[in-house]
Amino acid sequence: MKSLTTLRELGKTDLHALILAASGLRESLANGGPVRPTLGGLCVANVFFEPSTRTRLSFDLAAQRLGAHVITFNPETSSLTKGESIQDTLLTVGAIGADILVVRHHEEGTAQSAADWTGLPVVNAGDGANEHPTQALLDVVTLHRHFGPLDGLRMAVIGDVAHSRVAGSLVPAAGVLGMEVILVGPDSMLPRQPEVAKSTDLDEVLDRVDIVYLLRVQSERGGVAEEGYIERFRLDQARAARLADHTVVMHPGPMNRGVEITTEVAASPRSLIREQVRNGVPTRMAVFEELVGR
Ligand code: NCD
Repeated sequence: MKSLTTLRELGKTDLHALILAASGLRESLANGGPVRPTLGGLCVANVFFEPSTRTRLSFDLAAQRLGAHVITFNPETSSLTKGESIQDTLLTVGAIGADILVVRHHEEGTAQSAADWTGLPVVNAGDGANEHPTQALLDVVTLHRHFGPLDGLRMAVIGDVAHSRVAGSLVPAAGVLGMEVILVGPDSMLPRQPEVAKSTDLDEVLDRVDIVYLLRVQSERGGVAEEGYIERFRLDQARAARLADHTVVMHPGPMNRGVEITTEVAASPRSLIREQVRNGVPTRMAVFEELVGR
């Protein structure tokens, strides 16, 4: 693997290898066990043109845990404000000495362009509404650690699916891993592809899934919670009470509490939300190791 800009090119074997590597690293981190400095001497540049909390910080820590130098680009205080282009910005970061670029941008395809322009390995940390491969990877790592084999698990992905790059990576990866996915939301938030199972009625789906995966309304990408959205799609305690005992709740963050999920449900024992964040660092470590082949 030269870059990770999409999960759509990874088969079941590739995904499994990354899941196992991430899980192994998670154990090493938890036990305070040795982590080999496989990125020793290399420089990882975090180049985020869009806001981020967990993704940027966990890429940063993942790189540091593997012994890399980390440099962080801040768009607000950069020469972007003087009119420098994205291409020139990325070429500059490469010329400074970055060996790996982690790129987030509001336009689809920017991570791939970054790889083409610079020739460097690039990890896509989110490109517009297209993909967010490491988020989907840490999600399947979390699921694998919770359920074991993922084959046959049924997952509802709920909310603003059409504008979600998380769904853009998670839905195809879940399919490759043998899971059944149903997309749930108002018509305006469901993608057009006819081949995916869809429903506009959350209550009809709740009692037949193993995983409830909630998404934030992506207002910065044109997503609008229409009248009645909260009543129809929020996972509150009344709805959570109808889930099977084993069903888990997930969310990539940031949560808009009270909109797609209530505080009680987010904090309930069936919530894996904190676990998803914990798995972010070892998952990104596994991706870096795969890219440098060490
Ligand atoms: C997501 C993103 O930025 O795509 N967040 C994340 O990286 N965990 C989801 C979102 O913003 O809703």
